[in-house]
Amino acid sequence: MAIVQPKRPALPVPLAMDLPDRVAKQRYYDADFYQLEAEQLWPRVWQMACRLEEIPQPNDFAEYQILDQSVIVVRTDDLGVTAFQNACRHRGVKVAIGHGTCESGFTCPFHGWCYGPDGTNTAVPRRRTFSEHNLQPGDLDLTPVRCEIWGGCAWINFDLDAPPLRDCLEPFATSLDAWRFESLQTEWWYACHLPVNWKLATEAFVEAYHVPQTHPQLIIPTRYGLRTGEEFDAADFIKSDIRYLRAMSNGMAGMVHANDVRIAEGLRDIELPDDPEAARAMWNETLNQAVTDWHQERGADMPDLNDLSTQGLNLEFFQGFPNSFVLPMYSSASAYRFRPLGPEETLMEIWSLTRYPEGEEREPPTPPEPWRHDDPRWPPIPAQDFSNIPRQQQGLHARGFEFMRLSGALEGHVSNFERTIDGFLAGLPHEQLLPALREVNVYPFDKPIVDLGF
Ligand code: FES
Ligand SMILES: [Fe+2]
Repeated sequence: MAIVQPKRPALPVPLAMDLPDRVAKQRYYDADFYQLEAEQLWPRVWQMACRLEEIPQPNDFAEYQILDQSVIVVRTDDLGVTAFQNACRHRGVKVAIGHGTCESGFTCPFHGWCYGPDGTNTAVPRRRTFSEHNLQPGDLDLTPVRCEIWGGCAWINFDLDAPPLRDCLEPFATSLDAWRFESLQTEWWYACHLPVNWKLATEAFVEAYHVPQTHPQLIIPTRYGLRTGEEFDAADFIKSDIRYLRAMSNGMAGMVHANDVRIAEGLRDIELPDDPEAARAMWNETLNQAVTDWHQERGADMPDLNDLSTQGLNLEFFQGFPNSFVLPMYSSASAYRFRPLGPEETLMEIWSLTRYPEGEEREPPTPPEPWRHDDPRWPPIPAQDFSNIPRQQQGLHARGFEFMRLSGALEGHVSNFERTIDGFLAGLPHEQLLPALREVNVYPFDKPIVDLGF
């Protein structure tokens, strides 16, 4: 007999997305709304807690902090990668801080209770002084947190009822598996401290409507179409596409990896047909092939990009709802993670991920010291975005400003994302939320507003 899940009654959501193309400004600073997210959203979603390369050896651990919750992710000998809440079962002290390697487990620095790497309690000094009900087997083990692996990362979820990780990452996971995303490794990892709400920060990176005004250097005809009446010239086409790749590489801090740009530069003299469509197709295929060959020849785990190009993997945006992003281009990718630090404070991390020859010894990446949003070290493209969003956060407080007015065609993803959040805030059951996750997890830029089913 099929088990019928009782439907949770939907809770009223304050400041809800009543019209899909209007976002109430208070969603980005109201303390009660932030608190509701802390109760209804963050404890119910899969979150990328660490990259596996941060904990390459048995007994390596990494701390993941979200709001007031700290989770320790550990690589163990026999259980693989596992996670638990970071609070000693005696009087609550965090058993580990930051990243490191535990010897044969964790010893609480306060009174010396001990735990194995899997969180099992192994010692209580002066045990006989505790009453029986405070020594129940199992009750003294560190509280486990669900932890699953995908894409070279450990993900955690506090919700025992949430669907498995993989289900929540589709269609993101299947597309990126074909591209062998799990083989990428960190080239660098930066963090930015942004004086803005986490959703405001996120939404600055999910539409292309802002590109002509904010990043005019990226408006290059090969990617944004010819002006009407302009004659197609194959040699100019190649030159301008290489200019685009270079702008994305330098400006975006490696969003197109420098290796791939060099490979494209080596193709600058190839002959292309006169027909623009045929020329574009041949250029893409030739570049994909050259990138594939170069990485395969140096011994990296590299997929055939021409198998994938039909799926249009370049410059696709993948979101692991709510706060992880992957932006693949050719061999490599940028990745983002956004975490709230307060109603108007966000930690944004950026990774440059690329492929290395298999077996090459590399140092595990360590978490970066966050830079300010106006630090001169930011490359031009994120610097342009970071200069807008604190101004936006301040502007939202204007008394005469009530709500954002979204373009239904160009900023649909902002609406889809905000309305999926409302689904969580309303306490909808996971089976109703899952189709919405699949709408927001993968999208082309300029995705329209879609029906999420609630
Ligand atoms: S709080 Fe950990 S041993 Fe006392
Ligand atoms: Fe941008």
